Amino acid sequence: MSENAVAKITIEGNEYEYPVIVGSENEKAIDVRKLRKDTGYITFDDGYGNTGSCTSNITFIDGEKGILRYRGVPIEQLAEKSTFLCSAYLIIYGKLPNETELNAFRSKVANASRLHVDFKHHFEGFPPKAHPMAVLSGMLNSLGCYYPEMSSNNREQDLELFDDAAALLISKVRTIAAATYRMSQGLPFIYPRKDLRYVENFLHMMFTEPYDQYVAPKEVSDALDLFLLLHADHEQNCSTSTVRMVASGGANMFASVSSGVCALWGPLHGGANAAVIKMLQEIHDNGDDGSKFIRAAKDGKARLMGFGHRVYKNYDPRAKIFGAAAERVLKALGRSDPLLDIAHHLEQAALKDDYFVERKLYPNVDFYSGIVLKAIGIPVDMFTVMFAIGRMPGWIANWKEIAENSRKIHRPRQIYTGPNKRNYIPMEERP
Ligand code: CMC
Repeated sequence: MSENAVAKITIEGNEYEYPVIVGSENEKAIDVRKLRKDTGYITFDDGYGNTGSCTSNITFIDGEKGILRYRGVPIEQLAEKSTFLCSAYLIIYGKLPNETELNAFRSKVANASRLHVDFKHHFEGFPPKAHPMAVLSGMLNSLGCYYPEMSSNNREQDLELFDDAAALLISKVRTIAAATYRMSQGLPFIYPRKDLRYVENFLHMMFTEPYDQYVAPKEVSDALDLFLLLHADHEQNCSTSTVRMVASGGANMFASVSSGVCALWGPLHGGANAAVIKMLQEIHDNGDDGSKFIRAAKDGKARLMGFGHRVYKNYDPRAKIFGAAAERVLKALGRSDPLLDIAHHLEQAALKDDYFVERKLYPNVDFYSGIVLKAIGIPVDMFTVMFAIGRMPGWIANWKEIAENSRKIHRPRQIYTGPNKRNYIPMEERP
C-alpha cells in the first residue's frame, strides 16, 4: 500500500477523504479523527471490534495466524529461553536486558518485596470471605498512598520515579497476592526472602509455615514462571484498555493498575481461568466426558469457557504452550488429573465440530492454564490473581506509553437512544 493511501467515505452525497495509517506489520487503519468535525457523524463500533484506540510499540498479535510477539520477539522463543522478569523488562523498556541490566532489575524487584507494617490493618478491614481480586485491587490503590511521591498524578513527577514505581509494583503485587491467600485461610503472613528468585519467593510466601519451610520443586517454579511470562502482555484487551483509559485522565500508575485488576476479574476476561476449572469439574462430577457439554454449548445453553477469542481466529499460541506445560508438570509431579483428560476430549471434539469450526473458536490461554495452576497447588479463587501478577508488566508498559505520549483524555462518544425531551412530573401527578 502506498504511503499516501486514502479512504473515501460518501455521506449524504458528499465525499470525504481520510488518511490510511499502516503499522510496522502492515496493519491498516482509516484515520477518522477529523470525521465528526467534517461531517457531524461518528463511527459506531459496539465492543470496539473494528476500532484502533491507539498506536502502540509494545505487543503485536496476528489473530488470523496465531502470532504473539512482545516488542517483536515471538512468544514461543520467550517461553523457551526467557524468564518472567526478563520478559517483563523487555515489555517495559523495549529491549532484552543485558546481564548487568537484568541483575539490577532483579535486585530492585527483590528489594521492594516487603509491605509497610501498617498494611496488615488494610487486610484486617476485609471480611475473611472477601474475593482476592477485590482485595488485590483495593490494596494496589492503597499502596500508592504509601508512596505519594510516586503517585502524585503529576505526570512529569510520576515518570521521573517510574523505574522505582514499576519495580515496586511488580514486586509487591506478588507479596499482596500471597498475603491475601494467607488471610483468606486464617494463616499468618509469611515475610518475603531476598535470597529467593521471583517465583520461588512467591511460592514461599504462599506455602511456607512458621514451622515448615516450603521449597518449590523446580518443575513447579518453572511452570509458574512460564504462566506469568505468557500472561505478561496482550495488547488492547479489556483490562489493559482500562489501564490506558484511567491513565489518559492523568491518574498515577497505582490507581491505573488497580482499575486493571477490576477489569480483569470478569469471567469473559481473566476470570475465565477459574471458570474453566469450575466447568471441567462440573463435567467430571456429572459423569460426562464433555460430549453433553459441547451439545449444550452449541444449543446456546452453556459457554465453553477457555474457548474463543476476540482477536485469535486460530489457535492462541499461548494455549499450545500451556497444553504441553500441563502434561509436563503433571508428569514431573507424578500426578494425573482427570480434568486434563476431559480438556483434551473437549478440545478434540470442538476442533472437529462445525459449530466451533465455522465460528473459528479455538482454545485460548485460559483453557489449560487452570490445570497448570491447580497442579502447582494454587486455589481456584486465586487463579485470576495469578493472571494479574503476570499482566502487571503489560499494564505498566501501557501506562508509561500513555504518560509519555498522550495528552488526550480517552472519551468515546455514544449514540443516544433514550427518550426525547420530556417534562419533570411532580410526585403527586405520577401514575
Ligand atoms: N462457547 C460457545 N460459543 C461461543 C464461545 C464459547 N466459548 N465463544 C463464542 N461463541 C459463539 C457465540 O455464541 C457467537 O455465536 P453466534 O454467532 O451464533 O451468535 C460467536 O461464537 C461469536 O461470539 P462472540 O461472543 O460474538 O465473540 P466475542 O469476540 O465477542 O467474544 C470471548 C470473545 C472470549 C468473550 C468469547 O469467545 C467467550 O465468551 N469465550 C469464553 C470465555 C473465555 O474463555 N474468555 C477468555 C478469553 S482469553 C483471555 C483474555 O483475554 O482474558
